[in-house]
Amino acid sequence: MKIIRTKTDLRSLTTLWRDRGESIGVVPTMGALHAGHLSLVKAAAAETDRVIVTLFVNPRQFDNPDDLAKYPRTEESDAEKLAPFDIDVLYVPDPDQIYPDGFATTVSVAGISEVLCGAARPGHFDGVATVVTKLLLQTDADRAYFGEKDFQQVQVVSRLVRDLDLACEIVPRPTVRETDGLALSSRNLRLGEQARQTAPILHRIMAQTVLAIWRGERHALDTATTALREAGFGPIDYFELRHDDDLSLAHRPDRPARLYAAAWLDGVRLIDNLAVPPLA
Ligand code: PAJ
Repeated sequence: MKIIRTKTDLRSLTTLWRDRGESIGVVPTMGALHAGHLSLVKAAAAETDRVIVTLFVNPRQFDNPDDLAKYPRTEESDAEKLAPFDIDVLYVPDPDQIYPDGFATTVSVAGISEVLCGAARPGHFDGVATVVTKLLLQTDADRAYFGEKDFQQVQVVSRLVRDLDLACEIVPRPTVRETDGLALSSRNLRLGEQARQTAPILHRIMAQTVLAIWRGERHALDTATTALREAGFGPIDYFELRHDDDLSLAHRPDRPARLYAAAWLDGVRLIDNLAVPPLA
């Protein structure tokens, strides 16, 4: 596995691969890798000839400078975690490779970027959309792998690829969870011991709520948020049922939809989502 830091060096390799007719998969990350990220790497290694993992802590998607400063930067241990996988390149672009002096362009996906995490974190998805567009172009990937843990991000990225005619297929992969149901996230490490015990309740309540929606219970969402508050969660940024295609609010889902939650616990913001199959 080569570590590459400039787009010129990356381009020499991808040009060579392309000339040989090899396919390229990319897994964009911000590092601090865990089994959720590695599941994407495994899928890319199984499905494409060449695999690039990118590691770039993207300042434009943080709405809070303190959060950006605190984001873990663990390149060395990330490279060690990737060693067992059949990957070709760890691309760790120097900041000026992504945002050169005078950089003035923003990719913004209207509508679906403004709800859920976009409402709670204004500008977040413009930052994501801009950096992902650049990473897809710089890596020249045929397939890009994203986790459904961040389902809204998958929708934003899929939309921009369609709208901008980028020649890259977005491949969503299921959320990887701890055995107690908690979705893996680098933020879980910030939970205190007690909060770590409480955290899986989020997933449990979401699963119960999916069943309640199916049973047609009218107050399923209110019941769930009350239960979350009683368990110690708060504030709750959102707990909503939305359609997959346009992220519009769903009351009784008649097409694929998901239950989305973002809730704070012990000063840590946890997010999760669960599919709600359409009611007949
Ligand atoms: P990051 O948070 O590092 O996540 C990188 C990828 O790993 C994303 O596609 C995310 O959905 C996926 N992922 C995280 N936790 C997961 C889990 N428990 N199961 C499955 N997949 C999981 O998401 C970003 O970085 C950034 O926004 C990025 C796309 C790199 C743009 O900067």
